Amino acid sequence: MASYSSICCLLLVFMLVSCTRGESPYRFFNWNVTYGDIYPLGVKQQGILINGQFPGPSIEAVTNDNLIISVFNALDEPFLISWNGVQQRRNSWQDGVYGTNCPISPGKNFTYVLQVKDQIGSYFYFPSLAFHKAAGGYGGIKIASRPLIPVPFDPPAGDFTILAGDWYKKNHTDLKAILDSGSDLPFPDGLVINGRGSNANTFTVDQGKTYRFRISNVGISTSINFRIQGHKMLLVEVEGTHTLQNTYDSLDIHLGQSYSVLVRADQPPQGYYIVISTRFTSQVLSATSVLHYSNSAGSVSGPPPGGPTTQIDWSLEQARSLRRNLTASGPRPNPQGSYHYGLINTTHTIRLQNTGPTINGKQRYAVNT
Ligand SMILES: *[C@@H]1O[C@H](CO)[C@@H](O)[C@H](O)[C@H]1NC(C)=O
Ligand SMILES: *[C@@H]1O[C@H](CO)[C@@H](O)[C@H](O)[C@H]1NC(C)=O
Ligand SMILES: *[C@@H]1O[C@H](CO)[C@@H](O)[C@H](O)[C@H]1NC(C)=O
Ligand SMILES: *[C@@H]1O[C@H](CO)[C@@H](O)[C@H](O)[C@H]1NC(C)=O
Ligand SMILES: *[C@@H]1O[C@H](CO)[C@@H](O)[C@H](O)[C@H]1NC(C)=O
Repeated sequence: MASYSSICCLLLVFMLVSCTRGESPYRFFNWNVTYGDIYPLGVKQQGILINGQFPGPSIEAVTNDNLIISVFNALDEPFLISWNGVQQRRNSWQDGVYGTNCPISPGKNFTYVLQVKDQIGSYFYFPSLAFHKAAGGYGGIKIASRPLIPVPFDPPAGDFTILAGDWYKKNHTDLKAILDSGSDLPFPDGLVINGRGSNANTFTVDQGKTYRFRISNVGISTSINFRIQGHKMLLVEVEGTHTLQNTYDSLDIHLGQSYSVLVRADQPPQGYYIVISTRFTSQVLSATSVLHYSNSAGSVSGPPPGGPTTQIDWSLEQARSLRRNLTASGPRPNPQGSYHYGLINTTHTIRLQNTGPTINGKQRYAVNT
């Protein structure tokens, strides 16, 4: 048995080596970034659209794919897109942040050349300059495992992206001016799910099947809690790492974070609320979408389920329960726990603390400043 599995292992490694010898596939994207009318909270606002869409188009890739993304800036301001969570290996100038990437001037294009080398999982992209993120311009990124790499759960019947977060009725120039005058941001006006307020999105599922939801907090200032009425969530991935598969009733998702959960449609056929609400705020904002069973004529019923609001300990305890599954595969056939980080002796300890300094009279957010 042992020799059989090691032969399999060798064979697998050999097959992988021979596949990776060829160049990884290229995926081409042509994006036009424009202003356009959006109605996230029911009132008309000027949004940032990509190819006419808000949220922007999803990027779907497989580990090691080369992404060639040509971005035309039709705005009247310099613009950049950052690829949150995508590792830029020796190409930091593709990361789309001020300082390593020259802004794309109005009326000009730039072609990002990225490789999602040794990566899997759920991420999102967003505009990184001038508070443009407050006007949209964001979208999901999914990186699937290569066919030969085992994934520690069965393929789901469907795969939904939920880009959730706070929203302001003030536009990005007004919000930027508030920070630049030295003040903190006001409390947001609402929460949105995939660019829309409450009950504007319906996710349809077949009873008895299991679905993957990839949830990212794409907001500006607020942590959120995510939950689905009457359903448990099995956490399987956090930003490209397969986790121990714990079950949660609700999940705190902080700014910039992305989580994948599996949800089994194991309830009586009707509609169920998908809810997000703000965390650590005295006033609580929420927004809902609907999980709809395809065999149901019914709609949602009852009040949307409540969740934690100001409790910090609850959140810390949940964060501590998120663990890497050391024996599951990551992007490569070897277990993602085989790096033995735990055996490396510590020689320096660096403490990172988020701070909110005022710099030249402007409110800024930083690390250790
Ligand atoms: C982008 O869209 C704007 C507005 O529709 C249009 O004027 C411009 O030609 C487009 N640019 C590209 C490169 O498609
Ligand atoms: C801009 O777009 C044109 C037309 O698609 C293309 O030929 C050119 O290479 C692009 N330039 C950059 C810097 O991406
Ligand atoms: C933002 O809104 C203000 C009014 O509050 C307006 O003067 C300004 O032109 C708007 N900025 C953009 C980019 O639309
Ligand atoms: C970790 O991954 C392995 C390999 O896929 C799987 O057998 C195991 O059940 C997982 N453990 C947990 C606790 O999720
Ligand atoms: C860590 O330190 C221990 C004790 O000094 C030593 O035996 C071990 O080899 C070191 N490990 C590494 C990876 O350097």
